[in-house]
Amino acid sequence: MSDPAAAKPGGDAPAPAELNVLHWWTSASERAAADHVAARMAEQGLRWVDGAVAGGGGSAAIKVLNERTLRRMAPKVAQLNGQSMSEWADMGLLLELDGVAQRRNWARTMFPQVMSQLTVREHVVAAPLGIHRINNLYLNKAVFAQHRIELPSDWTGVLRAAKALRAAGVTPVAFSDEPWQVATVFEALLLGEAGPSLYRRMMVQRELQAFDDPALERSLRRLRDWRGLALPAAAQGAASGPQPVMLGERPWTELVADFAAGRSAMLIMGDWARGELGSLGLEGGRDFDCRAVPGTAQAHLYSIDTLAMLAGSGVQAEQEKMAELLGSATLQLGYNRIKGSVPVRRDVPVDELDPCAQQSFALFANPATPRVPSLVHRMAFGEVGKNAIIETVHRFALDPAQTPAAAQRKLQGLLRALTPPPPSTPSPPSPPAAISPKAPR
Ligand code: BGC
Repeated sequence: MSDPAAAKPGGDAPAPAELNVLHWWTSASERAAADHVAARMAEQGLRWVDGAVAGGGGSAAIKVLNERTLRRMAPKVAQLNGQSMSEWADMGLLLELDGVAQRRNWARTMFPQVMSQLTVREHVVAAPLGIHRINNLYLNKAVFAQHRIELPSDWTGVLRAAKALRAAGVTPVAFSDEPWQVATVFEALLLGEAGPSLYRRMMVQRELQAFDDPALERSLRRLRDWRGLALPAAAQGAASGPQPVMLGERPWTELVADFAAGRSAMLIMGDWARGELGSLGLEGGRDFDCRAVPGTAQAHLYSIDTLAMLAGSGVQAEQEKMAELLGSATLQLGYNRIKGSVPVRRDVPVDELDPCAQQSFALFANPATPRVPSLVHRMAFGEVGKNAIIETVHRFALDPAQTPAAAQRKLQGLLRALTPPPPSTPSPPSPPAAISPKAPR
């Protein structure tokens, strides 16, 4: 299995070398994007053995990865993004890919931000696939046109449109109570209210005082208001009462399907939603508009998908071959066109991608763009930290009895608990395990 030249029993063609890949790409577009990679691998004598674990945002997949690794059944390749990847690399669990990066000149072809994300203690520890933008507001053009409502680009316009949509019998917003989805909307709203520099002070520098800023309270209010626009008309009044009104933890694919069918008209979601809309036959620019969440037009709230190669697997040559393929220009274009993300290389022509992808790529490529790391998608925090924050935001969103000010204090308290003491203070006996030693950029 580890030898790509090994002969197939009874045949001349060499048996493809197998690589078991653990990931969470299970929607139609995610599946198609993964199948695209598998097909390109097959052309090179490598077999993608699928280890998908369903669940948007990947929490379930990461739990399975932990379990499998503990039981010595680790996959050969795993989707490990951002700070999670750093944590695994720090434990010596990942194969270093410096040779691949050098041979393929990644330092020159990849965006510097991508390279810095892949590099832990001066070693490249994963292969990058695509860059997602999180701060998108999708608008269903047919619904807006049918009811002659202007496409909004600021909050006043959004609220005006929502009122008109309600009057026309359309639920304005698609929203799920699934914790990672609630928090994904929240981080985009926070960026809008706080702006990139305060967002960074909170999520990257982790300054406790930054959590006192009124922008945080405003974004919590916005989150609740936005969710209110997804409630059935009859439940709207009840939502401000003492009893929580639930929307249900619907998978993100159902939200996309609702939006595509015109059952809702607005959606805030990472651009994997654009990939999924593509798989339903909708085209960015033609059928739906992708605008930035109000207040975030100049910024790129990013998440970078990466596949790490597990160390000591006995198939190093095949893992390296796969990593080389993932970084190649052709694969980058083919994969990202399906997935909704954009290439990690600055030298690929993106003029064939849809206008939304071109815009995301141009923004990410522009050195003047404030690029801010996603909290929910592990760019700013590792698994433990991001889960704790998601949980807090989720509880607030669903519990009308909790005030935004109380949630703000909870988030600040959480940060205090997650952040290790400054070097001058003596260390407590068991330091909190949440924060990765590698600071996000
Ligand atoms: C990943 C995407 C994926 C999305 C929904 C994100 O964390 O980066 O690749 O499509 O979750 O599952």
